[in-house]
Amino acid sequence: MIADVIVDLQFGDCGKGKVANDLCRNGNYTHVIRYNGGCNAGHTIYNDGKKFVTHHVPCGVFHGVKSIIGPGCALQPKLFFEELEELRIAGYDVDNLVKVAENTHIITDFHLKQDSEDEIIGTTKRGNGPAYRDKYARKGVRACEIPELVPYLIDLHDELYKNKEQVEILFEGAQGFGLDIDWGDYPFVTSSHCTVGGAILNGVPPRYIRDVWGVAKIYETYVGKKSHEGDDPDFAVIRDVGEEYGATTGRPRQINWLNWELVERAININGVNKIVFNKIDVLDEVGRWPLIQDGLIYEFESGEDLQFWITQNLETADVDQIMFSGNKDKI
Ligand code: IMP
Ligand code: MG
Repeated sequence: MIADVIVDLQFGDCGKGKVANDLCRNGNYTHVIRYNGGCNAGHTIYNDGKKFVTHHVPCGVFHGVKSIIGPGCALQPKLFFEELEELRIAGYDVDNLVKVAENTHIITDFHLKQDSEDEIIGTTKRGNGPAYRDKYARKGVRACEIPELVPYLIDLHDELYKNKEQVEILFEGAQGFGLDIDWGDYPFVTSSHCTVGGAILNGVPPRYIRDVWGVAKIYETYVGKKSHEGDDPDFAVIRDVGEEYGATTGRPRQINWLNWELVERAININGVNKIVFNKIDVLDEVGRWPLIQDGLIYEFESGEDLQFWITQNLETADVDQIMFSGNKDKI
């Protein structure tokens, strides 16, 4: 068995969906597994020139690869079925490819109602926090209890370990390091594990992990109640040029320059060996290339200078591939 894991090094919305789709398009994966989060996620994917925003379904479905919602996720059945229908109409073979682990927890109407009352964290109001709370309180509802889900259910152990062929997994993460329940800026976090540890919890031991792909943006965005945006008139410009509005909720994302310490922490905690910095084109269009280190803003003359600095500073980390991308569809 071989598994590659995609993690987000910031606050989500760094382009994991694009990276997952590109790796899947060019790889030999037999399975793509979503390992955390639920319909709070919005993965924007451009496939065959068409734009899709997926909340639950992993990107394998665009490439004929089995796409599994793992037990680390929380699933909202109504939204899941709506998403399946949208993909079915677009011609994708959802009924053969999309599977749900029978031990995945369910987001109920009660969870949705409770989350809709949140005024502190600025959640996506999709019911995730209450669903994970009830999971750990041992009073949750699992996928195996929902009759409509039966055609999609699998025992993930049997799927992975009783398979006759070599299994090659791409783990598609949701949210990001700064939102992780343990490592994020608590309490302004989500309720699931957004690190490589979260992937392993879905039934694949560490010795099968090949690559850990860290995905970041060349600047930072965050959505939620805490105040995160820096003080620079260009942040409004970046928001527009970069289309920084939530894929799930439409909320404007708060913008800041790349925070190097956060990226470094996320690289270390996740054991990242391949990195993609996305949205290089946005800073090029705005004509500014700063980053924040130790609370100070360093302004670079060009995108090349900034990229050179980043590359040099990653030399000591165990990173063997660093990519800078300004493309919506490819790395
Ligand atoms: P929740 O996950 O809906 O409980 O929201 C908790 C925090 O995580 C809020 O600040 C949300 O805006 C943020 N969040 C949750 N999912 C995403 C995502 O997919 N992208 C970006 N932010 C997210
Ligand atoms: Mg997103």
